[in-house]
Amino acid sequence: MSKRMRIDKLLAHMGLGTRSEIKRAVKLGKVNVDGQVVKDSGLIVNPDEADVVFDGEPVVYRDVVYFMLNKPQGVISATEDGRERTVIDLLEPQDRLREPFPVGRLDKDTVGLLLLTNDGQLAHELLSPRKHVAKTYEALVLGNVGEEDKHLFSAGLTLDDGYVTMPADLQIKGREQRENETYSTISLTIMEGKFHQVKRMFEAAGKKVVYLKRVSMGPLKLDESLPEGSYRELSGEEVELLRSHRQVAE
Ligand code: URA
Repeated sequence: MSKRMRIDKLLAHMGLGTRSEIKRAVKLGKVNVDGQVVKDSGLIVNPDEADVVFDGEPVVYRDVVYFMLNKPQGVISATEDGRERTVIDLLEPQDRLREPFPVGRLDKDTVGLLLLTNDGQLAHELLSPRKHVAKTYEALVLGNVGEEDKHLFSAGLTLDDGYVTMPADLQIKGREQRENETYSTISLTIMEGKFHQVKRMFEAAGKKVVYLKRVSMGPLKLDESLPEGSYRELSGEEVELLRSHRQVAE
């Protein structure tokens, strides 16, 4: 059976604007299909065969998917593993068919925002060390995180392998006493993504992360209404935010 799709959906899917922006572009006569100006943004086309031009530029359709997962503890950020459950095992079978993979890694015991996509180009750019995409984590840390730690984190810490981290923004949210130990709740934004980076930064500051959750990556924020272990497709606006972010972040 041939694939069928509305032209406004196809163009939004390819990141050319929100549905309403695309409706406006259609009204302005900026969309052509098979050499004809499109009059109706609900026009049905076969995305694999139609010759689509948007604002003078040919549009090549790719069946890309973007999922936001609220990663639970106990699963690994890989596509397959002989022994462990992976984040891909959390997807519905029809979503697995499109072969998404995790953009970067969260440790097995880290929870929170993980983007899954089959858009290799976007993933590559989000992970590129040159792009310095900001990642924000919330953590519970064993130890009394104080003002001096904020200075250490913003100056750069030397990790166990001698690597000196880029300036990071540490915010202290609260402290509590449990069984004679002080725990601190913090938020930390880093611009790089070394292996176990957040845990190793706190180790370098003499403290221990006991719970770690990622809440944002670049312009993408974790949808807190997603229970751990659940996922949803990114909205058109979220995809658009990610795509425009990759052009400016350098
Ligand atoms: N830093 C860590 O230490 N672990 C993660 O999962 C992510 C960042």
